Amino acid sequence: MADERPPAREAGRGNGECPAGAFARRSFLQGAVAGLAGATGASLLGSDPALADKASGDNASPRPIPFHGYHQAGIATPPQTIGTFAAFDVTASGRGELTDLFRTLTVRARFLIAGGTPEKAPSSSPPPDTGILGPEAVPDDLTITLALGATLFDDRYGLADRKPVQLITMAPFLHDDLDAALSHGDLLVQICAGHRDTTVRAILDILAHTNGAMRPRWRVNAQRNPPRPVGTPRDWFGFKDGIANPDTTNTARMNQLVWVQPHTPEPAWTAGGTYQVIRIVHFNLEKWQHVPLAQQERIFGRRKDSGAPMYALSENASDTLDPIYTNDPQGLITPLNSHIRLANPQTPQTASTSAILRRSYDYDRSPDVHGNLDMGHAFCCFQRELDTYITMQNRLEGELLVPFISPRGGGYFFALPGVRNDQDYYARGLLT
Ligand code: HEM
Repeated sequence: MADERPPAREAGRGNGECPAGAFARRSFLQGAVAGLAGATGASLLGSDPALADKASGDNASPRPIPFHGYHQAGIATPPQTIGTFAAFDVTASGRGELTDLFRTLTVRARFLIAGGTPEKAPSSSPPPDTGILGPEAVPDDLTITLALGATLFDDRYGLADRKPVQLITMAPFLHDDLDAALSHGDLLVQICAGHRDTTVRAILDILAHTNGAMRPRWRVNAQRNPPRPVGTPRDWFGFKDGIANPDTTNTARMNQLVWVQPHTPEPAWTAGGTYQVIRIVHFNLEKWQHVPLAQQERIFGRRKDSGAPMYALSENASDTLDPIYTNDPQGLITPLNSHIRLANPQTPQTASTSAILRRSYDYDRSPDVHGNLDMGHAFCCFQRELDTYITMQNRLEGELLVPFISPRGGGYFFALPGVRNDQDYYARGLLT
């Protein structure tokens, strides 16, 4: 498979106008920190190219990624540089408040993604916007992607019979060391953008407007590294990571691998959504640094410098070459327990459980109490069936990489179908 990350995304802009839901109005009246109204179309950056170009002087994209669609953005969207994964416990007191929460989240996402001029307030009042992006907020490729955990379908909101059929709370795998404080949640909000200040403004805005209806549970800030020197970016192990990924511009392939289809055993409202897995995987980099290069390459099954498969001898071989195992049944070239060979063994028996859409980020957190680095992967993947991930992960429990990683958190979620238009809101199909 090639590095199929598609070229620049389509130009266009979201629409910032939508009536706020009842919950948003209540937050507003209660004087929650913010109180932003949706941006008006006229004030959006991107509507005036001259203004947009001026505002994007720091190379932040002036054109919003479209918010409305059959699918949410942030899944097939080429990964932005900055990512935040924030999980929440929902505290809304009933179905009505839960619906208000999703309406409010829709209004905030629509507004934040579009960019534009935040509402002004008299200087005697708290500013309605954090001001982090200045007086004209540039869109900066922001996407906000919502996904639901299995616990949202317990007896609190009467949604049990509408749960996606494969959605469960993540159980520990053989080598997991899960920390409850870093795991699970009723709701996952994935926020991606070109710059960290854009994601921070978004999370602060969302928190201010949903205060009382959901409570932060865990959050991981992460990034994607630039290509070094070209091609797919490298992870903290120094390997090009994300090469063999489905082509997100191939609709048939995405429908087959990622998007839940209508008229399946899944509840009708799930069509257009997808299962999302987050795994917060600590890397033991101190130990990794003592591993000889040849062994590192055998652990992953690809060359470190070039990213090419193990059969490639040239230093300049392309990272887009496919690994081939038909001439290597014993794993002499690509070990049978290397990462890529267990993830995708290329056998008839594993054909249906060997392809997922990976969209991971790299995190760097404070050292632990023993002074050990806490760096690793916010591993993120999307697939039409959660069982595909679970089967693949179970195979990987036998990989050579195991001594160098420690999965500590994350969870299973169902990423909602897209918000279709101005009248629609997140999870409407589930809640009505
Ligand atoms: C968290 C630590 C992980 C690291 C550092 C890592 C790194 C890599 C690297 C360097 C590659 C080879 C280049 C590429 O094709 O992208 C790769 C491939 C791949 N990884 Fe991972 N990965 C990790 C976790 C996972 C997990 C948890 C899964 C799924 C359960 C997974 C599934 C895959 C798949 C499907 C491939 C492509 C295999 C192929 O078709 O050749 N990885 N990974």
